[in-house]
Amino acid sequence: MALSSAPGKVYLFGEHAVVYGEPAVPCAIEQRARVGVERRDDEKIRVEAEDLSLDGFTVEYGGRTEDEPDIDVSESLLAAATGYVDEAISQVRSVTGEEDVGFDVTIESDIPLGAGLGSSAAVAVAAIDAGTRELGTTLEAEEIADRAFRTEYEVQDGQASRADTFCSATGGAVRVEGDDCRTIDAPDLPIVIGFDGGAGDTGKLVSAVRDLRAEYEFASNTVDSIGNIVRNGEQALENGDVEELGRLMNFNHGLLSALGVSSRSLDAMVWAARDADAYGAKLTGSGGGGCIVALDPTEATETALKFTPGCEDAFRAELADEGVCRLE
Ligand code: MEV
Repeated sequence: MALSSAPGKVYLFGEHAVVYGEPAVPCAIEQRARVGVERRDDEKIRVEAEDLSLDGFTVEYGGRTEDEPDIDVSESLLAAATGYVDEAISQVRSVTGEEDVGFDVTIESDIPLGAGLGSSAAVAVAAIDAGTRELGTTLEAEEIADRAFRTEYEVQDGQASRADTFCSATGGAVRVEGDDCRTIDAPDLPIVIGFDGGAGDTGKLVSAVRDLRAEYEFASNTVDSIGNIVRNGEQALENGDVEELGRLMNFNHGLLSALGVSSRSLDAMVWAARDADAYGAKLTGSGGGGCIVALDPTEATETALKFTPGCEDAFRAELADEGVCRLE
């Protein structure tokens, strides 16, 4: 068996706008997905997921008999888990030329599913690395990032940027603009995450922004303005100016909210962080529900979030310098 891990991420700036060629700055965090992949004697894929949802599940499918998954979890959770794993396995098959190989796949994740912390990118990156290594091929991080991007692109009907997958594969803070992906220097950031226990549907949220942008010039201008915020944010990162970063994150949240991708609980958590004197706070990822990211070196934001109705969990996150990790 080959076992790999890959980190989740938070967006300091630029989600959604990155889909239209604006820059974005996501940062990898030390919350990881670990994926074990073992070759089978047949063509089937068996996925066992622990901690991916509160309940976890096992599903076996594929092969010539086309078994229906026989499990009791929500369809969207199943589709999310099997969709990304399926596509990652296709990438493994295509890169190794072993088109008929089957696998037992075990997923263990610290990252809540669909909550804006890059769970699908982390699972795709770790699965591609472990799957290819199980078949005797070791890929460079950039190639894994590219294959994981194709995985997200397929599952999300062509609506994905390279940001999540590049960040998860390489680790650290990264800057993505179109196909140009690079790691950048970042100061030690006092990252606090608030989680409302929910999830957003990335595909639907990206489509909604796309429609809005096509219909209204002001929505298109809003997307451009997010790009402007990102450029200012890059400067603040370079200067190590955490207060300015926070201020810009507040602006970024306002514009995401205007594009309709925030939610009552995300707004409540953002305001709790602001009232606790965080440098700044915003939703992270596609929105609709899930997580916010705040910058606060004190305990105040974490404590305030824990008392915020609608916030299920609040925790501090460290920047992950390492991307994909080979564990076995
Ligand atoms: C999702 O984590 C981030 C989005 O910008 C979509 C993408 O970049 O693929 C909303």
